[in-house]
Amino acid sequence: MITLVKNHHGLVADALVARVRDALVCRSNPVIGLATGRTPLLAYATLAAQSRDLPGLDRATFVMLDEYLGLPTDSPDRFANVLRKHVLGPLGLDDSRLVRLNPDAADLGLECERFEGRLRELGGVDLQILGIGTNGHIGFNEPGAHGDSRTRVVRLDDSTIADNTSALISADEVPRYAITQGLGTILDAKEIVLAATGVSKAEIIAELVDGGVDEKVPASVLRHHPNTTVIADQDAAGRLIGHVSEKSHPVSSMQVSR
Ligand code: GLP
Repeated sequence: MITLVKNHHGLVADALVARVRDALVCRSNPVIGLATGRTPLLAYATLAAQSRDLPGLDRATFVMLDEYLGLPTDSPDRFANVLRKHVLGPLGLDDSRLVRLNPDAADLGLECERFEGRLRELGGVDLQILGIGTNGHIGFNEPGAHGDSRTRVVRLDDSTIADNTSALISADEVPRYAITQGLGTILDAKEIVLAATGVSKAEIIAELVDGGVDEKVPASVLRHHPNTTVIADQDAAGRLIGHVSEKSHPVSSMQVSR
């Protein structure tokens, strides 16, 4: 796992955009997994601003990472709607380019199998963008999730429900259940980029980068992945042991490999 520390959120976004552009250029039929949450929004806005100059976009397929259960179809908090608003719409792409997790499916178990089957048909995800929850979740794989878990329905951790209470813009009640790609599903991606910004992520980023693999920190399974990069801003990287002595480094980014 490689860790890049960037001076500010804008540079984290630029680094994410560069990875997306590389995937679009280098892959014949790029499959890109999209996280929601606040962290990648700036990168998505930057991509949208470059929409006329994104080679490979016409061949690309985008894939959802997770989705709430129990929100109305038109809820702006539904992750599919977030991705339509911030990625598909601005890039001029229709819904057929998004592999969705459908929370309205009559049989959610079958829906999870359908989703996994679709990923196999596509040849897997080339680049998976991730954020991280303050409890270490990726997607909605909460502490205790197994490293080989596949796409499934999960109950959200109490701490996630508390975090989401301020993040949701429309819901009267914060959803307690979601569908998520499993940790094993995420690990199948050929390349993974996890972005983290802000002081609220400093503790979990230190656990992820400086700690071992531990089911209590679901993101730590990424240490088993051969091509994962963590990109953090100075605030999120503030408690990294390897970073502390280099805080006044004049360059805009530095790399800490572990
Ligand atoms: C949600 C999503 C995660 C995301 C996390 C962090 O819980 N399920 O995929 O990474 O939020 O969100 P933020 O980037 O807003 O901190």
